[in-house]
Amino acid sequence: MEKLQVAIEQARQRREGKGGGQTPPRTPKSAPSTSPARKRVSPRVLPDGLMELWGELPEIKLPKSIGDGRRLVAHLPGGESSHYDILRTKVLIELRKNGWRRVAITSPTGSCGKTTTASNLALGIARQGELRTALFDLDLRRPGIGRVFGTQPDRDISEFLTGAIGFGQQAMRVGSNLAVAIAKHSQADPTKLIAGKKAFEAIDAVEREFAPDVMIFDLPPLLVSDDARAFLRNVDCAILMARAESSTAAQIDMCEREIAEQTNVLGVVLNECRFDEGGQYGQDYNY
Ligand SMILES: Nc1ncnc2c1ncn2[C@@H]1O[C@H](COP(=O)(O)OP(=O)(O)OP(=O)(O)O)[C@@H](O)[C@H]1O
Ligand SMILES: [Mg+2]
Repeated sequence: MEKLQVAIEQARQRREGKGGGQTPPRTPKSAPSTSPARKRVSPRVLPDGLMELWGELPEIKLPKSIGDGRRLVAHLPGGESSHYDILRTKVLIELRKNGWRRVAITSPTGSCGKTTTASNLALGIARQGELRTALFDLDLRRPGIGRVFGTQPDRDISEFLTGAIGFGQQAMRVGSNLAVAIAKHSQADPTKLIAGKKAFEAIDAVEREFAPDVMIFDLPPLLVSDDARAFLRNVDCAILMARAESSTAAQIDMCEREIAEQTNVLGVVLNECRFDEGGQYGQDYNY
């Protein structure tokens, strides 16, 4: 894991023309600054009837204990959620500092932990109570949010993304302040769907009408299809998930460049790092 972090930092330094070859700093750096991404979010007046609007979303009841293999942990305080709580705090600091609201989660290849992390990040933010969060299942080749939350909506997210129905008819609610838009099944042509004008308009409407403070988008891997690349210009920043044992420094370097062409790189999360000999797994962060 250390070797991977060193390699990522060296690649960054080479990109920035600093030579590389040094041991990377362990303290987080602030997110890289400007990119062609969206403009900063501005303060807004909350729409009337906001609480009622959220209250009308059908509720997802989460298990009161963990351990059913879904790795849904961040709705409960305690040891299992601590890695996600650290990630939540780091993310919220960057969002506040930069005036950002929309965060994408992607990875070089599949199975790096995007869906697990997106879900637990959303739950961790919601657990704080004062922020409204919306989570979108936009990996339409391998949707996974429904599996993690253990439920399916009546209507598919594609109906929301094409503008056929509103967010209020599609999304579900966890507690009072987390809305989750779940994909019921995979799509034959996801790029067209998630990068279409209608999808961008539908997401803008959620921001206007439901006033989420944080919007999290679970995207497909960058090196497998065009979907994530096509969507990234629609967010303020992106987290790159890498899997400690299988993602390579070259893949991470390539993906950081790809993301930086479209939006801000919020940071790289190394998932499934082995922290101790007892076999505990968690995450490490490179911001
Ligand atoms: N920190 C972790 N420790 C142990 N297992 C994990 C961790 N994070 C994720 N997993 C497991 O790894 C598998 C892949 O995770 P997940 O579905 O979140 O990845 P993904 O990047 O969304 O995959 P895909 O590309 O298929 O959408 C799942 O079985 C999940 O439970
Ligand atoms: Mg996934």
